[in-house]
Amino acid sequence: MESLVPGPVAAVLDFMVTIFVLMVGIGFAAVVVIFIIDITQHRDAIRRNYPVVGRFRTLFTNLGEFFRQYFFAMDREEMPFNRAERQWATRAAAGGDNTVAFGSTKNLSLAGTLYFVNCPFPTLDTDRAETEPMVIGPTCRKPYAAPSFFNISGMSYGALSKPAIQALSRGAAMAGCWLNTGEGGLSPFHLEGDCDIVFQIGTAKYGVRDGDGNLSDERLAALGTDNRIKMFEIKLSQGAKPGKGGILPGIKVSEEIAAIRGIPAGQDSISPNRHPDIGTIGELLDRIAHIRAVTGKPVGIKCVIGAYGWLDAMFDEVKQRGEDSAPDFITVDSGDGGTGAAPLPLMDNVGLPIRESLPTVDNIRKRHGMKQRVRLIASGKLITPSAVAGALCAGADFVVAARGFMFALGC
Ligand SMILES: Cc1cc2nc3c(=O)[nH]c(=O)nc-3n(C[C@H](O)[C@H](O)[C@H](O)COP(=O)(O)O)c2cc1C
Repeated sequence: MESLVPGPVAAVLDFMVTIFVLMVGIGFAAVVVIFIIDITQHRDAIRRNYPVVGRFRTLFTNLGEFFRQYFFAMDREEMPFNRAERQWATRAAAGGDNTVAFGSTKNLSLAGTLYFVNCPFPTLDTDRAETEPMVIGPTCRKPYAAPSFFNISGMSYGALSKPAIQALSRGAAMAGCWLNTGEGGLSPFHLEGDCDIVFQIGTAKYGVRDGDGNLSDERLAALGTDNRIKMFEIKLSQGAKPGKGGILPGIKVSEEIAAIRGIPAGQDSISPNRHPDIGTIGELLDRIAHIRAVTGKPVGIKCVIGAYGWLDAMFDEVKQRGEDSAPDFITVDSGDGGTGAAPLPLMDNVGLPIRESLPTVDNIRKRHGMKQRVRLIASGKLITPSAVAGALCAGADFVVAARGFMFALGC
């Protein structure tokens, strides 16, 4: 019988059927191969008990992390930052409209909710008073009059990319706030925007160490003469990993990173759990005094608070030595802070959250009569105006944020 379909069309149909059969065959063969691999392997119990389909569990678990924020999670549900907070930061960074419609999505009946008391006759814009910069380290040779109460917290070059550091540096200059280098040393990218810099000294003393890994006075003095560097911060600990140092694997130590940090290229580099030269209150105050003497600039400490009796001991010793010996500032980091990589138990369960620790440290500082001498800087998920204002009310003189600025960068 003669075909009803013209010759060329029949040829195309034949070709498509052949391709389809071939693909089904390849698919079937692939399933058989995966089945054999799964049933014979000994590393993964799920795949061994449920060959082929067991693989979807891993796939969906991995994809879920990315998709639930779009489809399933409510506005205020996620951790460490929820959608409402993230959107606030990205919209504020874009300079766009940051208003929302149809009422608050926050559950205001939860215990611990922060309320501000409004006044019946708010200040008019025309009556607004300009604030004076707050001075840090008034007894130093070069005190710092900090123009902004909201600043960028420590994130190293290496943890953040070159364009990210460049953008933060330029943004900080535009906003008139400081940029903390993090413990990875001072890169040329931090300096690009010509903003105020806080140089952080981590336990490996990156960027300010000699060949043996000790604090180098020569390097310190050179940094002290740079007008862009306004203060030095000794990192005792940070919220995400209290009491934990780290290893920078040799593969990440490029020639550039090696030069910035002052370590040999291509070799593993260890950050000890604490500064080897700071094991007592006395040694801490000695180190602060030394760095201040060499650089002439304010020197403070960063720590996450757990036990706080040592703060009383520190202030007692300060009073014996004289008020000049006090740290010029204390940065209190929340126990649930962020970082590049940290063990989950340390992030979750070690160190007090900022809500607890900030008023505690402020009270200790007041009890010792050091409120005007020692400035208090707070960090830990303080990225919305209400969170920042709450921290200022709870005793902070300054607030710094890290991850909020990562959102602003598009992270
Ligand atoms: C990518 C990244 C790198 C960080 N690197 C450092 C660092 O080098 N030194 C440090 O003291 N803190 C570091 N932190 C912690 C932050 O400075 C900050 O204390 C912590 O993230 C809490 O603030 P946040 O809630 O605003 O992020 C880092 C945080 C992030 C997210």
